[in-house]
This record gives sequence, structure tokens and C-alpha cells, in this order.
Amino acid sequence: MLVASNRGPVSYEVRDDGSLHSKRGGGGVVSGLSAIGPDAGALWVCSALSDGDREAVRRGVGEDGVLMLDIPADVHADAYNGIANSVLWFVHHMLYQTPLEPVFDAEFRRQWASYEAYNRAFAEALAGQAAPGAAVLVQDYHLCLVPGMLRELRPDLRIGHFSHTPWAPAEYFRMLPDDIRAQLVWGMLGADRLAFLTRRWAHGFMTCANEIDAERIQVYSPVPSEPKHIRHTGTGMPPLRTTWIGVHGLGADADFLRARSHEADVDERMAALRGEIGEGRKAIVRVDRTELSKNIVRGLLAYRQLLDDHPEWRERVVHVAFAYPSRQDLAVYRDYTAAVQRLAEEINSRYGTPGWTPVVLHVKDDFARSLAAYRLADVALVNPIRDGMNLVAKEVPVVSDEGCALVLSREAGAFEELGEDALAVNPYDVMDTARALHEALSMGREERAERSKRLAAAATALPPAQWFLDQLHALDQEAGQPA
Ligand code: G6P
Repeated sequence: MLVASNRGPVSYEVRDDGSLHSKRGGGGVVSGLSAIGPDAGALWVCSALSDGDREAVRRGVGEDGVLMLDIPADVHADAYNGIANSVLWFVHHMLYQTPLEPVFDAEFRRQWASYEAYNRAFAEALAGQAAPGAAVLVQDYHLCLVPGMLRELRPDLRIGHFSHTPWAPAEYFRMLPDDIRAQLVWGMLGADRLAFLTRRWAHGFMTCANEIDAERIQVYSPVPSEPKHIRHTGTGMPPLRTTWIGVHGLGADADFLRARSHEADVDERMAALRGEIGEGRKAIVRVDRTELSKNIVRGLLAYRQLLDDHPEWRERVVHVAFAYPSRQDLAVYRDYTAAVQRLAEEINSRYGTPGWTPVVLHVKDDFARSLAAYRLADVALVNPIRDGMNLVAKEVPVVSDEGCALVLSREAGAFEELGEDALAVNPYDVMDTARALHEALSMGREERAERSKRLAAAATALPPAQWFLDQLHALDQEAGQPA
């Protein structure tokens, strides 16, 4: 079995003395793959992302079971920053703002050529490493062209692709140039199986695929809520191949989270956070990468609105916001980080008192501190504009000591599973979000604990290991099967 993703399970850093220090990554795919154990003989193909990673490749340093590709830095930057995080991320999360964006010009075409080269480097590495008939699980929007490229190089392989993001509605996807849309869809259809986090995103893909070429691509979804399969004929493919569609809603890893959140470093951070919040105050907690789809600015606006609409909460509540920098090579993400910081400062200077800081904002990534905040949370605020799943929404109810109320955007994938016990919000509607925050803060202890228990049960229904194995089994059963 092979796994392919842009970001791998390990990264390296060059220390001052010239030595290499390795750090293990987190996330669902890492814990899912760890669960099948080192004996499975799996190989993980990923990109070298940092100078430390490139140095590790140069020195031949690495981990068993991980192959880092040293793709030329400029090609990687164009593919990752230019196409993946500025175009595909924006399309699937519907983040563009006219009249300035998007513009598909000569620069875009140049970057697209890098995206193709970067995908080809993955396809060639996978083709070179895979044993006959091996299963290859390709991850995410960075690698949409890999299934098609790999199919041409190695028709014997069983190929799966998993999308960790939403998939754009057809009307929005249509803003991409026609040939690019077609390349993305045909690239994905090189897989035997495409999997998504929710039915909604699976449907998004099926609708977009249908629009590309209704004659050569036939979509079957007999029951609208159950995506099924796509039959298609592509260039270089035998007639009528079938690509199966699956939905696997990645859940939180309860055992890991519960154990990790009671380690000494988390206790230490809880004590420090309690000091920042102040005795007897409630905490509204959010933890995100600082990234536009997370909607942190509107979250702060809603909190400000809450303080205006309900002055009785002043001095009695603190908004604990962890906004960890992400993709800072891109100006749009840097500007967003700055906007978050500005607004937090503004709220603090307008409402703060000598003994009360209304917003406690931290921007330095610290997993133990995030867990400490989860444990202390009275309310979790998760209000993304769109989100493939959002694991924070699933993790806080599992970890919180006394149970928390969850204010959740109906546009997060997690809403399909948690909607009943969360307080639903329209992420654009700041007044509505302020109302939900008030309701969450006012919820009785018992109701809050009951709801939180049900949220935790729903959130852990499909733990990462099972999520991963389900995909592998489905690929085993469905690959090569005619519809
Ligand atoms: C999302 C994507 C992942 C990505 C992660 C972090 O969850 O689906 O593929 O790895 O964000 O983003 P980054 O750009 O830092 O890898």
C-alpha cells in the first residue's frame, strides 16, 4: 500500500549545530496509518516542504516507510501556493471576492504548468515504487491529477483519492477555465474510487463531473442521498471504466485525545490559561489555523456584538482564540492574520477593564495549550464559511472537562453529524452568531452536559484507524468491479 500527500508524517529542522531534528506530524491520515502498524509495509510519499526537509533528502536521512520528494522549490511553490492554496482552496471554500478575484491570466497558466509537473513527479515516484496490483491512496486537492497520470503509467494499480476539503458547487466550479475544470475532473476519474468527508461534497463532485462531458461521463446516484458511482470513457482508458464514490466522515481519536489531554504539560497550561481568563468567568474557545475559510474575523465581530447586545456578560466571559499562522508565504493569509490581531486588540481596548481582558488571543502553535483550552471550554465556537469536516468541533466535546456547548456553522462538514446537538449558525450572519453565543452561555449545566455527551459520541463514531481501514477495504472490494 502507498499513501501520497503533499504534507507528510514527518518534517525536519536544521539546528544551529547543523544537526537535523525530526518532528512527527498530526492529523487523521497520520493516526489512521499509524494504527495499521509499521509491519504493513506501507510507503508514504510526500513533498519536502522546508529547508530542513530538503537537507534531509540531500543527506539521505529519512524514516522507514516515508519517501520525501525533493521537487524543485519554485515548482513546488507555484503548485502549492499558487494553484493549491490560492485557486483550488479558494474555489472549494468559495472564498473569492469580486471584482479583484479571480483572474486566470498568463501567470496562472505558468503556475498551472508547475501544478502538472508537481503531480507528475508524484505519479512517477508512485509508479516506480508500487508492487504489482498495490493499493495507492492519494490525498487531497494538491494531487488531483495524480490518479489519471498514475493510471496511464500503471494500469494494474488500485487507486483511491480522498478529498479532505469541501467540493465546490457546480456554478462556482464553473469559474475555472473549461480546460482546467476538465483536467481536474478527468484526473480524479483516473481513480477506482473517490472518497469525500460528507455526502454533500460527494454530490458536489458528481455534479461538476456531469457538467464536463455528459456523454462520456455518466453519474449514477440512485438514491440522491447516497452517491454511488460514475461510469466514463476517457482518452487512453478502456471503454466504460467505473469510478466508485464513497463517503467517510473522519471522527476524533477519543483514546488519544483523552490520554494526551491529561498529561502534565496540559495541566500546566491549564493553570496559566485560568490565570488569563480570571476566576469564575466563562470561556468561549476557538482553535484554528489562521486561514480565511475559518471565519475568525466574523467570530470576533459576533463576540463584540454579544458584548453590545448583552452587557451583562461583560467581565463574566472571555473569548479564548487560538489562531495559528498558516500558509504565511501568501499575502492574503498574512493580511488575514493581521486583521484578526487588529480586531482582537480593538475589542480589548474598547471593552477591557483593568481586571478583564475580553479576548485572549494566541498565535503561536501549541498543541498542549489547545488541549488545555478544550478542557476549560464552556462554549466552543466553530463558524467556518465552509469546511471539509472541522475536527475541532469534534474534539472539544470529547475533551472538555464539564461538557461544552457547541456553536457550529451549518457549512462545516461536521454539521452533518453534530447538527442535532449543536447550536447552528449561518457563518456570514454576525447577529445570528452573537445570538447563538448568548444561548450557549446561558444553557443550563445539565442540558449542556447531556448535549456534550451526545456530541462526543457522534464525534467519535468513526475514529481515524477505522476511517482509514474502511477506505482500504472498500478499495479492495470495488476496484476494477464493473458497476
Ligand atoms: C487542510 C488540507 C490538508 C492540509 C491542511 C493544512 O486540512 O485539507 O491537506 O495539509 O489543511 O494545510 P497546510 O497547507 O499547512 O498543509
